[in-house]
Amino acid sequence: MTAMTLSAGALSQIEKELGKYPADRRQSAVMAALRIAQQEFRWVSKDIMQEIADLLGIPAIHVYEVATFYSMYELKDVGIHKICVCSNISCQLRGSKEILDYLKEKTGIGPGETTPDGRISIKEVECLGACGGAPMMQVNKEYHENLTADSIDSILDGLA
Ligand code: FES
Repeated sequence: MTAMTLSAGALSQIEKELGKYPADRRQSAVMAALRIAQQEFRWVSKDIMQEIADLLGIPAIHVYEVATFYSMYELKDVGIHKICVCSNISCQLRGSKEILDYLKEKTGIGPGETTPDGRISIKEVECLGACGGAPMMQVNKEYHENLTADSIDSILDGLA
């Protein structure tokens, strides 16, 4: 398997981000660089983390630490549609477990898995800051709150 490398477009976006910081603070662009890389591949491989580290002039472990700390970064390939189900306290009290069970019934997959056709991945995440609308999930960039079986059905239909 050949190593993944960032495209010229991604490299130029990262250079632009680097321009926002002093020369001795290139590490500050690590989150932006990870975001740009993830937009390109949907996930961030170790090769890409090394490439980002080289670009920023920092040890690869610093990129890895950030990539593994935040749940928005994917460390393995994911589906075209990413469903993030919050299972923190408010959502848990309002049925996030049932939401995950229902999603499994409908898609055949649980947290950390991707459908065999590569369309959908499900992820269990910490609070997404929409506790008032619990139980909730994020599908791609969109939040869906006060989930019910019916609303999940229509959300999944919308991904078809
Ligand atoms: S607990 Fe689920 S959004 Fe905060």
